[in-house]
Amino acid sequence: MVGNLSRVIGVISGKGGVGKTTFSINLALALRRLGKRVVVVDCNISTPHLAYYLGVDHYSVTLNNVFRDEVDVKFVPIEREGVMFIPASEELRDLIRVDVTHLKTHISRLSNDSFYDYIILDSAPGLGREALSVFRACNEIIFLTTPTIPTLTDITRCAEVASQIGHKKFYMVLNMIRNKKYELSALDATNMFRSPILGTIPFDETVMDSTSLGTPYLIFNPNSKVSESYMQIAANLAGIRYEKPSFFSRMKRFFKKEKQFF
Ligand SMILES: Nc1ncnc2c1ncn2[C@@H]1O[C@H](COP(=O)(O)OP(=O)(O)O)[C@@H](O)[C@H]1O
Ligand SMILES: [Mg+2]
Repeated sequence: MVGNLSRVIGVISGKGGVGKTTFSINLALALRRLGKRVVVVDCNISTPHLAYYLGVDHYSVTLNNVFRDEVDVKFVPIEREGVMFIPASEELRDLIRVDVTHLKTHISRLSNDSFYDYIILDSAPGLGREALSVFRACNEIIFLTTPTIPTLTDITRCAEVASQIGHKKFYMVLNMIRNKKYELSALDATNMFRSPILGTIPFDETVMDSTSLGTPYLIFNPNSKVSESYMQIAANLAGIRYEKPSFFSRMKRFFKKEKQFF
């Protein structure tokens, strides 16, 4: 996509723990498998998790240095599994002189460079300063939620804020689906909240195993329903038709131990 601006996607939610960081990383890996160039930015400056979830503990510069004008944002991304990542510092002292309202300026620099097809912003939850900086810096929003009424109702407020900021593209993703009676179906959620649904992801305890090991799920378990959901969501976002791999090709991959596609 050289010469065009990147698509800047904000991954937001009403509350924490619904899977934003997991989603941002795995969506990026799925887009990479579709041939896209992607960078993920940890915009949850006060409680950052991106580096930990990637199993990365050696990085010299972070988004905090960018906010303090110590380094150009273009030089911060680190590579993991073919995707670029910009971590935020886990040191409390690195919050000094960090003004998140400048996020849009830095992300615009990254976008104007035209190097990335997608810039994914992993947000803090809610509608505080950090989350609002993501609303302002992105041009499309993915609202991530679990499929229960209390978490889903936050979508109304978030969609209102998004429209006040001028966003037209607002999608919803339902995560951690357990197919229980108390859950709303994708159809119910679309009808109730009038937001287009980009996809659904099942609940799978092994996702938590992959998180605690610092191995992104698409690498940890590529032949699973969760990984397939991520591929489908990435394809929907990119407007590409996704062909589910046949049983035969999955078995071949399994026996060849081809865990990666990059
Ligand atoms: N589809 C899923 N099934 C089961 N657990 C999940 C799923 N997606 C995310 N998780 C787990 O939920 C927890 C919170 O995820 P996280 O990405 O940190 O959420 P957030 O960034 O919204 O706070 C993590 O332990 C993660 O492994
Ligand atoms: Mg998070």
